[in-house]
Amino acid sequence: MLVKKAYDSWSETYDSDINLTRDLDETVTRESLKGSHFNAVLELGCGTGKNTAFLSSVSAKVWAVDFSEGMLSKAREKAEARNVIFSLADVTKPWPFSENVFDLILVNLVLEHVEDLNFIFSEAARVLKRGGTFFVCELHPFRQYQGKKARFERGGNRIEIKAHVHDISGFLLAAKSNGLNLRDLREWRHEKDQSGLPRLISFRFEK
Ligand SMILES: C[S@@+](CC[C@H](N)C(=O)[O-])C[C@H]1O[C@@H](n2cnc3c(N)ncnc32)[C@H](O)[C@@H]1O
Repeated sequence: MLVKKAYDSWSETYDSDINLTRDLDETVTRESLKGSHFNAVLELGCGTGKNTAFLSSVSAKVWAVDFSEGMLSKAREKAEARNVIFSLADVTKPWPFSENVFDLILVNLVLEHVEDLNFIFSEAARVLKRGGTFFVCELHPFRQYQGKKARFERGGNRIEIKAHVHDISGFLLAAKSNGLNLRDLREWRHEKDQSGLPRLISFRFEK
C-alpha cells in the first residue's frame, strides 16, 4: 500500500490506537521545546496535529504540512488556534516556501518514509533563518534494524507502512552536507519500556 494511502486509512484511528512511539514523541517534543518561543515554525508531516497545538502555543505562526488528506483533515478538525495554517504538501518535492523564513522546522516520525534525507536537509537549510533550529525526532535506527516500522491494524490485518532505514550517520551526514550543525542528540525510552532498546532518537541542528 502506498504510504499516503496507508496514512489516509490510519487517520481514522491514529489518535485512539495504543501507540507508545506516538505518545513518547509527544512527550519528547514538549520536553525539548518547552520554554522556547518562535516566530515562524514549519511542521513537516504534521499528521493529525498531535504536536501542532503545542507548537502554536510556543510560536507566533505555524505552517503545518502533510501529504495525507485523511491525516490533515483530522488535524484541521481539532485545530482551535488561529495562528496555524495547514496545507497539503509532499515534503519530498520542492517546498513552497521562500529562503530564510523559519526559526524552527520540526519533523517527527516522518523520515522513515523518506528515502532521500539529503533533499529534506537541503530544503530545511534553505528555508531556515540563520541561527534557526531543525528538530528531528524519529524511530531509533536500532529499532529499524530489528525490522520495526510504523504499522496499524485494519479489519484484523496488520498493515506495515513502507519504510527506509536511516543510520545515525545518515542524519549527521545529511546535516553536515547542508551546513547544519549538530547541537544536541538524545535517545529516548518510553516509561513503560525502560529496559528495551531506545525507541526514539532526536537531533537538534542549527543553521
Ligand atoms: C507517523 S505519522 C506522524 C505524524 C505526526 N508528525 C506525529 O508525530 O504524530 C507520519 C506522517 O508523515 C506523513 N508523511 C509521510 N511521508 C510524507 C511526505 N512525503 N510528505 C508529507 N507528509 C508525509 C504521513 O502522511 C503521516 O501523517
